[in-house]
Amino acid sequence: MPIYSSASDVVLDDIFLQLPDFITGVETFLKLEAFNPAGSLKLKTAVGLVDNVLSAGVLTRPHGRLIESSSGNLGIALSVVAAERCFPLTIVTDLKANRQAIQAMEALGTEVVVIDQCDQNGGHLQCRINYIQQALERDPQLIWLNQYANLANPHAHRDRTARNIHAELGDIDVLVVGIGSTGTLMGCSEYFARHSRRTRIIAVDVEGSVIFGGPPASRHIPGIGSSRSPEIFTDSDAFDKVLVTESDTIAMCRHMARKHGLLIGGSTGSALTALQQLADSIAPGSRVAVISPDLGDRYLDSIYSDNWIESRYGDMFAETSGSSLV
Ligand SMILES: Cc1ncc(COP(=O)(O)O)c(C=O)c1O
Repeated sequence: MPIYSSASDVVLDDIFLQLPDFITGVETFLKLEAFNPAGSLKLKTAVGLVDNVLSAGVLTRPHGRLIESSSGNLGIALSVVAAERCFPLTIVTDLKANRQAIQAMEALGTEVVVIDQCDQNGGHLQCRINYIQQALERDPQLIWLNQYANLANPHAHRDRTARNIHAELGDIDVLVVGIGSTGTLMGCSEYFARHSRRTRIIAVDVEGSVIFGGPPASRHIPGIGSSRSPEIFTDSDAFDKVLVTESDTIAMCRHMARKHGLLIGGSTGSALTALQQLADSIAPGSRVAVISPDLGDRYLDSIYSDNWIESRYGDMFAETSGSSLV
């Protein structure tokens, strides 16, 4: 039995759940990323970002302070890393972040700033970044980790997430990845292009996100999508691009909970929706991995709440929300 020396070392990168008959004749594996002290795949991103500023000598004691923008999961993960390494941390988030995520960050000793203004694309990201830029001007000791532009983000997933998928499952036929900062996608694309060219990568985003160049619209599910294209994102034919709706994502999450006993997070619902929509293009006998960045406990007040769905989607969701939605 492994014994770890710090909380952020407890990353279980080899846990897969097989979903028999998710697509008939195709082996589908969910890579479950939630089983670590931060509860999501972003613990690997957080460790990569902090190690990067430490090894570059940018973050030093006793004055070094960290700041980052996050819709929730990276904020919790950075809070774990900052607490164990004794660095003060400020997380800039927005009204879409769930209450428990903010409480978890604060319990870990993080200062949380909640931005309530929208940017021109109906999201909050540019306003969060504007806040950070003003804070950096005021405080020269402050270090912005910047998951959207820092190559330590994709490198963490190239060197850990992708490598472990390949080590456990070999040259899979398809890998499905939901995107936010695009660190997971960029890292996995780089790794599989080098080590298993036959693996088809499917990048999944939600309607209203601008990362693939589509028109902005309001979105309600945290973790997936962005109102601003991240600097680390390079569009290419190394991956297929699929846009799904939030309503299909919610229906998939609720279906997985009630039919498979698995409370998945929002981006996992989006990834599984995309896979289902592409089922006809996947040959029988294929092996498919789907990255599941977190679990549904973070979405009990949103995706799994009938009241939340009704207040956000109203009639649009009337036929599929409520207890009839399975
Ligand atoms: C639940 C969830 N899914 C997917 C992602 C997207 O990962 P990435 O930022 O590496 O694109 C995130 C990012 O925060 C997330 O929290």
